[in-house]
Amino acid sequence: RTLPSCQSLSMAKVSEQYFLHEGIPFPTIVHNEESLNFIRNEFQVHDDDVYNVTYPKSGTTWMQELLTLMNSKGNVTHSHSIPNWERVPWIEQVSAQKFLQNLAPPRIMTSHLPAQLFPKSFFKSKAKVIYTMRHPKDVCVSLYHYCLMAVFLENPQDFDTFLSSFLEGDVLMGSWFDHVQSWMRVKDRVNILFQTYEELLQDLRGSVVKMCNFLGWELDEAAIDSVVENANFETMKDNKMTNYSLVPSDILDPKKGSFFRKGISGDWKNHFTQAQSECFDQIYQEKMKDLEAIFTWDQP
Ligand code: A3P
Repeated sequence: RTLPSCQSLSMAKVSEQYFLHEGIPFPTIVHNEESLNFIRNEFQVHDDDVYNVTYPKSGTTWMQELLTLMNSKGNVTHSHSIPNWERVPWIEQVSAQKFLQNLAPPRIMTSHLPAQLFPKSFFKSKAKVIYTMRHPKDVCVSLYHYCLMAVFLENPQDFDTFLSSFLEGDVLMGSWFDHVQSWMRVKDRVNILFQTYEELLQDLRGSVVKMCNFLGWELDEAAIDSVVENANFETMKDNKMTNYSLVPSDILDPKKGSFFRKGISGDWKNHFTQAQSECFDQIYQEKMKDLEAIFTWDQP
């Protein structure tokens, strides 16, 4: 079978910016074997923990802001004074323990881990996960632009080569398909809410209300208004504690792009050729065929 724009698939290789852990490429800048083994085998999940879990570029930062604001009932003190990586830290990163010890309950944390690498103690707890997903073609485009500005990630040669790597899972955190499926597979035995980036865009207020119900957090109308207002794209883009402008330019180079790039859905149409899109659809259908779920982007 010939897939015109995917001919280089088998040539994709993991670059030196990553190390493989259980077959998944992790950026060496913030992870090591010890941090990944600790979080999976030893970390103790609390029943009132809340985990913001995503594949990269699916709405992680947006959800960090939403959860911070929801937890503070719309008060912006935390979101305007503490960087997001400290107030909603990534549990798998080397710096995690330092930040986790400062969190008051309920602890709100972030993770890009697939379910099989998530803390084992989570599966025996009542803790909750909000798993945010995004149209995979938009994830691929967003990740492509992020890799152009993130000095610690492999610099993409061109979009076609990057697309091949993405489809192969030779990018940070591995395959989008495997990641989503790993969490879909455990959905009946854990406390999980599936949220899409597209739903957040279409109805942010409705999504906030749905998430508050899931978490059992009571917010009045004024608090919900404040959450919605302070978690919009423009406000977050201007918030120094969220927009990554505090990160040194030898890690994220502002001359090569902006973390808050477009914040829209459907930008893939400006990047994919017809052939690339068809190739993607074919691989998508093959990889997702055993999954019963129908996503917003599957609908015609
Ligand atoms: P784009 O590159 O398409 O603009 P993550 O936080 O998982 O790394 O995802 C980053 C993506 O989410 C970027 O997408 C970014 O612009 C988008 N994003 C972040 N906050 C957003 C918001 N409040 N509204 C819409 N998109 C947002």
